[in-house]
Amino acid sequence: MSFTVAIDGPAAAGKGTIARAVAAHFGFAHLDTGLLYRATGAKALDTGAVDATSAEQAARALSEEDLARDDLRTGDAGQAASVVAAIPAVRAALLDWQRAFARRAGGAVLDGRDIGTVVCPEAEVKLYVTASDDERAKRRHAELVKARAELTVAEVLSDLQARDRRDASRDTAPMKPAADAHLFDTTTLSIEAAVARAIALIEQAR
Ligand code: C5P
Repeated sequence: MSFTVAIDGPAAAGKGTIARAVAAHFGFAHLDTGLLYRATGAKALDTGAVDATSAEQAARALSEEDLARDDLRTGDAGQAASVVAAIPAVRAALLDWQRAFARRAGGAVLDGRDIGTVVCPEAEVKLYVTASDDERAKRRHAELVKARAELTVAEVLSDLQARDRRDASRDTAPMKPAADAHLFDTTTLSIEAAVARAIALIEQAR
């Protein structure tokens, strides 16, 4: 029997952390769908220009190796991801695979921007995770500064805001909460408290 948990929300709101913890708790498989777009963006960048053709080809030919690249967490890969993510043919190329993952036996947690609205509108549990812009920038800065000591919180903030604007305003599968999503603001919630709330909601739905 399949059971799907859809977790959406803007960058650095805590989706990934909650998704991993929930998956570990219930023994569900976890898919970070942002990684698919990051790998597509990075692969398209490798070819020179990121355009609709190179991006669609990159998405259609994604391999395990592409997903394991160690440059996918950088700010540049994030921006390239949100550029290719606005191309309908790229999203279409990645859709079936995500849906098959969601319906695997044993349960699945998918996190992204359009899981509850487009990829898995039938998901048993939907969460939409947010946090204030300043808090998200601080969190993402703390991660990225280890590799780039000169990076400022202000730069990270404007990067996140540009990406969120692009993700929320695109025509195809824009970032937004599903009508039946539980809204989670993690600005002042500890990781433990956010995870405990998510687990309680899932337990109610099982
Ligand atoms: O979640 P993450 O920050 O890694 O996602 C990178 C980018 O991939 C997002 O800014 C968004 O443009 C895109 N994305 C998407 N749909 C998803 C997951 C990610 O459009 N389901």
